[in-house]
Amino acid sequence: MARLGVNIDHVATLRQARGTKYPDPAAAAVAAEKGGADQITVHLREDRRHIQDHDVRTLRHTVQTELNLEMAVTDEMIKIALDVRPNTVTFVPEKRKELTTEGGLDVRAVRKKLKKQIEELKKGGIRVSLFIDPDLSQVEESRELGADAIEIHTGQYADAKNGSLELERIRTAALKGKEIGLYVAAGHGLHYQNTKSVAAIREIEEFNIGHAIVARAIFVGFEQAVREMRELVR
Ligand code: PXP
Repeated sequence: MARLGVNIDHVATLRQARGTKYPDPAAAAVAAEKGGADQITVHLREDRRHIQDHDVRTLRHTVQTELNLEMAVTDEMIKIALDVRPNTVTFVPEKRKELTTEGGLDVRAVRKKLKKQIEELKKGGIRVSLFIDPDLSQVEESRELGADAIEIHTGQYADAKNGSLELERIRTAALKGKEIGLYVAAGHGLHYQNTKSVAAIREIEEFNIGHAIVARAIFVGFEQAVREMRELVR
């Protein structure tokens, strides 16, 4: 049964839009766990557009399941991760002007830096995952660099008019990852209509889903929105 990581970034987006104290991402995490989330995921972006440093620190104390911190490959972020000690760090590429994470990491391009950072985090007892496109060479490179896990970027699948080709790429990458001993997660752009087909890929052990859950929560409440997504991924 696949696990569901609930990404609560956009609860913070709503808060930051007005500079208020509400809605509180930590309260959303509690509701998500009540609804059956197996993990809480947050992306501490370099521009701090949604999740703030204090959110990550609070969540470390309040999350009962596991905390997955998504972050860019920078020295500043490594320092924060080693201090906060989330269960997992997921390295993601980051561009200042993007609306959301636009593609997977080019693992080869940041090889040297990544290798060092993966070692440091693993020494600190933190699991390391790399957010990559469904590309076999990126999967193999992730393993060579010592990552524990990969998260396959499902954005192209979500955006495609006919997602079947993209679905095959995801399946092939997931199979490869599993075959070479990686834990395989997937996420980005998944919603209540397109998740079931990806969730049918048995090799994917975890999904990280955010925007669609937060959007649905407006109408049915956070706990229920998570419960419905959990049914889909399982
Ligand atoms: N996984 C990763 C690595 C991400 O960067 C994001 C977006 O922050 C997600 C999952 C969740 O994507 P979405 O909000 O589209 O569900």
